[in-house]
Amino acid sequence: MRILFLNGPNLNLLGTREPEKYGRTTLAEIEARVRKRADELKATLDFRQSNLEGELVSWIQDAKGKFDWIILNAAAYTHTSIALRDAIAAVQVPAIEIHLSNVHAREEFRHKSLIAPVCRGQITGFGPTSYLLALEAAVTDNQF
Ligand code: DQA
Repeated sequence: MRILFLNGPNLNLLGTREPEKYGRTTLAEIEARVRKRADELKATLDFRQSNLEGELVSWIQDAKGKFDWIILNAAAYTHTSIALRDAIAAVQVPAIEIHLSNVHAREEFRHKSLIAPVCRGQITGFGPTSYLLALEAAVTDNQF
């Protein structure tokens, strides 16, 4: 099982960025926790972050044939990016949308996700645990 974790804009600032909303855990610490669990589950992963929409699009395009799942925190691009949505639809690698905060409990502009309709599901509101829950979902999919 090969899993590509993608993180969008401003997630490189986790730890100091609006900690009342996103907590104090850094992206590197989240990656370490995800890697530990992935090792236990015998999954391999790439874990990347970019502030650039086009770079995220290119990584999604490149995932075809190389990864079994994409787990994506598109951050603000969740609510704006037709390009990311189209890329996910094009590559047909199953994807899971994740968020640290509960986007539905926040401003109305965050309630709409352009990405969710082309994903298998959405996990939102569990902080860093959202990343671990998505990993479990990917690995156990179709086992029931
Ligand atoms: C976020 C939620 C988005 O609305 C926001 O733009 C982010 C982070 C989250 O993980 O809670 O940057 O994706």
